[in-house]
Amino acid sequence: MNKDLIVVKGLTKTYGKKIKTDVLKNVTLNIKEHSLTWLVGASGSGKTTFLNLITGLDEASSGEVYISDKLITQMNEKERAHFRAHHLGFVFQFHYLLPEFNALENVLLPLRIQKKRVGKKEKAAAIKLMETVGLGHVYHHYPKEMSGGEQQRTAIARAIMGKPKLIVADEPTGNLDSASAEQVYALIRKLHQDLETTFIIVTHANIKAEAGDRILTLKDGEIIKDVTF
Ligand SMILES: Nc1ncnc2c1ncn2[C@@H]1O[C@H](COP(=O)(O)OP(=O)(O)O)[C@@H](O)[C@H]1O
Ligand SMILES: [Mg+2]
Repeated sequence: MNKDLIVVKGLTKTYGKKIKTDVLKNVTLNIKEHSLTWLVGASGSGKTTFLNLITGLDEASSGEVYISDKLITQMNEKERAHFRAHHLGFVFQFHYLLPEFNALENVLLPLRIQKKRVGKKEKAAAIKLMETVGLGHVYHHYPKEMSGGEQQRTAIARAIMGKPKLIVADEPTGNLDSASAEQVYALIRKLHQDLETTFIIVTHANIKAEAGDRILTLKDGEIIKDVTF
């Protein structure tokens, strides 16, 4: 059995001063290393809030989050940013590729942010990764010269390039047609199988669950269903 990568205890997020609204209510759960978790629930149920809290993009009102035994919820902004840059990969609904960089340069960004060397060897590794995600033919293209699906697969390659422990994706296919979305999900599955990385993916789509998949359902800030296939 794999050990826990993420431990969440009593995680709560409250907005408002006079009228308080709990958008995440006392969530407690663990996520195993190398697992693939789908996070589903209606719009406004707290999915993005949950991702932002566990990755330290946002601060919890109360509760604790550990990733690899590091207490994220006690870190200051600078420590969280450092932790994210070295250990986490992000994919959002919009690709957030840098428009003035080509796809390959975008994929290399995590290494630059981690202040690692970017030489011939690293570029070759990035090109190989782009071939894996089906973009070997467009790695020199700029974001505006790629389709939505290609942009999103570039964003996934970039998330992986930094060799994170955890990749979170927040509705990564939200802006894609269904064929491109299928390709993105197939790619996520392939990468999950090939790499030693844990994935959490927020999705609106109907998931065709496969063995080992975990599906967490959020409703009004609470986990109402937690199924592992
Ligand atoms: N900065 C904020 N201030 C006040 N309420 C917020 C803020 N961000 C999100 N919310 C509220 O928190 C709830 C959960 O939002 P969110 O996590 O974005 O849901 P989801 O990603 O599931 O659509 C929603 O009701 C939303 O309106
Ligand atoms: Mg959201």
